[in-house]
Amino acid sequence: LENGVARTPPMGWNSWNTFGCNINETLIRQMADAIVSSGMGELGYKYVVVDDCWFNPNRDSSGNLQGDPSRFPSGMKSLGDYLHGKGLKFGIYQVPGTKTCAQGTGGYPGATGSQGHEAQDARQFAAWGVDYLKYDYCSGSGTINDQVTTFAKMRDALAATGRPIVYSINPNSFHCCTGPQRNWGDVANMWRTTEDITNKWDTGNTNGYPMGIQNIVNITVPLAGNARPGAFNDPDMMEVGRSGLSDTEQRSHFALWAMMASPLIAGNDIRSMTSATQTILKNANLLAIDQDSLALQATQVSNDGSRRVLAKKLANGDVAVALFNQSGSTTTISTSASAIGLTGSSFTLRDVWSNATSTTTGAISASVPSHGTVVYRVSRTGTPTSPPPTSTPPTSPPP
Ligand code: DGJ
Repeated sequence: LENGVARTPPMGWNSWNTFGCNINETLIRQMADAIVSSGMGELGYKYVVVDDCWFNPNRDSSGNLQGDPSRFPSGMKSLGDYLHGKGLKFGIYQVPGTKTCAQGTGGYPGATGSQGHEAQDARQFAAWGVDYLKYDYCSGSGTINDQVTTFAKMRDALAATGRPIVYSINPNSFHCCTGPQRNWGDVANMWRTTEDITNKWDTGNTNGYPMGIQNIVNITVPLAGNARPGAFNDPDMMEVGRSGLSDTEQRSHFALWAMMASPLIAGNDIRSMTSATQTILKNANLLAIDQDSLALQATQVSNDGSRRVLAKKLANGDVAVALFNQSGSTTTISTSASAIGLTGSSFTLRDVWSNATSTTTGAISASVPSHGTVVYRVSRTGTPTSPPPTSTPPTSPPP
């Protein structure tokens, strides 16, 4: 969507994966503090997104949305001011129908969706200082054409406010799975490609709820052609730093999201994350690959079911290559400079995790553990390239 924002994939944090409906203003402020003190804020994790369940079940007498009075007693404008004061940005959740997903199925009170209130709600969000709207199609029915009309209505309402607001849509809630059927770049800055992610490697789902990491990758990789500045496939908020995935799987998850030019929206409790989690979320080489200004999603070079190779062209002429082992045992994965679109006689490979470099005349190969992903940033030797990003020194987790 050409609305001036999200020229590279949006980065931030969202409350849903860890907290669901158990949110309040103290929690969100603490998370913002931890995002800043952990150094994540200055690395680009800017959007702090308050997901479902922030609502007062009743609009005010003028029909305006309000925050839940017991959990957000200071009001949503005050929360936005707090986030802005920390150098962060304010994200909020809403639905196009009458009830949010939690109101529809989760027993959360109210029916505060934007249906019939689109312009009023968009103005309210702008007045609160909202910088990012997650708009979640919880309505349970409706054709793609209904969805396009509905999502476009809020797109236009946000534009009419004059405030730059990232527009993040989910065409998949309870309507599985329309995302892959459409390139939503005319409507939104980012759009979910699957039903909800969960902290499992493989749920066996090809098209259902919930989705493991491998399943989401299978659906999102073929959609590479959609990505461009302002418009990104969204394989959902990250499960890095939550239980259920091995360290290798968490590194793979993050590396693949970066290769797919995905929005990097952390879903863990930033206040208590381990240094291992920080090392993943703050990997400067992968952040640079994700945030590259060409905003291209990696395309598939090969996939034999076990060994998948992805390549992402970068603005300085380098190519990032991912060697992803989908099998249950360690295997060697190989490709070549020419297969990933590079010509020349000598190349440097920089391993994104170790920062170690090696040279090659064209062969690219690594032994990769089960569910692991080796990523190299490949440069033609002797051609001018911008200096490689320095890795972030390890810092202790915030208290
Ligand atoms: C469904 C979405 O896919 C989730 O990310 C989350 O926003 C929930 N709805 C909230 O109800």
